[in-house]
Amino acid sequence: MTSEEIRASFPILAREFNGKTPAYLDNGATSQRPKAVIDAVDSFYLNQNANPHRGTYELAMEATDAYEGARQTVAKFIGANFKEVIFTRNTTESLNLVAYSYGLSNVNAGDKIVISIMEHHSNLIPWQQVAKAKGATLEYMYTNGGNITDEEIEKKIVPGVKIVACTQVSNVLGIATPIEKIIKRAHEVGAICVVDAAQSAPHMKIDVKAMDCDFLAFSGHKLFSPLGIGVLYGKKELLEGMPPFLFGGDMIDSVREQDATWAEVPHKFEAGTQNAGGAVGLAAAIEWMNSIGWEELDRIESELYDYAWKKLSEVPHIILYGKSDEKRYGSIAFNVEDVHPHDTASILDADAVCVRAGHHCAQPLLTHMGISSCCRASIGVYNTKEDIDRLCESLLKVRKWLGYGA
Ligand SMILES: Cc1ncc(COP(=O)(O)O)c(C=O)c1O
Repeated sequence: MTSEEIRASFPILAREFNGKTPAYLDNGATSQRPKAVIDAVDSFYLNQNANPHRGTYELAMEATDAYEGARQTVAKFIGANFKEVIFTRNTTESLNLVAYSYGLSNVNAGDKIVISIMEHHSNLIPWQQVAKAKGATLEYMYTNGGNITDEEIEKKIVPGVKIVACTQVSNVLGIATPIEKIIKRAHEVGAICVVDAAQSAPHMKIDVKAMDCDFLAFSGHKLFSPLGIGVLYGKKELLEGMPPFLFGGDMIDSVREQDATWAEVPHKFEAGTQNAGGAVGLAAAIEWMNSIGWEELDRIESELYDYAWKKLSEVPHIILYGKSDEKRYGSIAFNVEDVHPHDTASILDADAVCVRAGHHCAQPLLTHMGISSCCRASIGVYNTKEDIDRLCESLLKVRKWLGYGA
């Protein structure tokens, strides 16, 4: 597919706002969906909808096959066994599942949990809660502008640490963390490592076996799929040893008046009716990405990212955040001198340039950076250099509109 064909796959990008099509640069919040995904979800509801795992009639079996087929597609996408793939609503639910089920059962008073200062609140608050509930301490790997150094990894991940939870790519700075080193070090001290792949899964090939992570979470909606479908990968032996997170229908083996036994993984962790349409949409999104191929996705996105960084750095009065030797993916954080990011984002909106402004659910990181909020432009594979040019042209207006003259 050419870049033009990729862009044309996304019907929403042809909509107009004030006579302009959107320069959609908020992919870190959620991506758009290609027509192939919308069609796959439509087709599920038009032709195959029934409650998976429940009925024995043909339609219900087709729904089950569609749902379980989607699990196989996801498993292949991340190099896992299908029994190690749990469908959830989103990254947040996946991480809460690990915190509540594994964390509360395995962390004890005096233990340590280590996370990075770059975590999204979804990979931070659950660990705060586990630490508080169990009398453990929560420690942070800090960054020097965006890099987590080898010294910091060795200083913080020490014997006594039970869980290390770390993002693979910062949702604010777009910086990749040295996740392989972090996982290796966690295992050396006897800890497990949980990877937040919400911002990496849409941009880079993930192989959970090669990484040797213990858990990995991502959201479908940032990866061209419907809202409300997410994934948790967990090593089978760990998942088998964990108590269920939610209780109810479909997650049991047998139920008596006073107790119950649990279904095998992954079903033990999928209580209640599942989002089969979402799972089918996620599988279609993966197929759509496969039709482009990782090499091409990476080539297009890397070129766009470098172009955006260069063009933005040429805009007068722009502050770009974060410096790193690691590769960056998707997000670029910036501010316009003297201007509140909400004002910047509103002025860009008048030109149908969509960026996010605020704390990006990463308040401890922003505090560490010495700011309370910033703008974020986040790139997806369907963006073009024209989108970046429109962002930069619109940014030139911001200080003028607010009376700074330039
Ligand atoms: C790094 C990271 N982790 C977790 C999340 C939470 O994702 P969700 O809201 O889909 O649960 C996000 C969302 O922006 C994120 O960027």
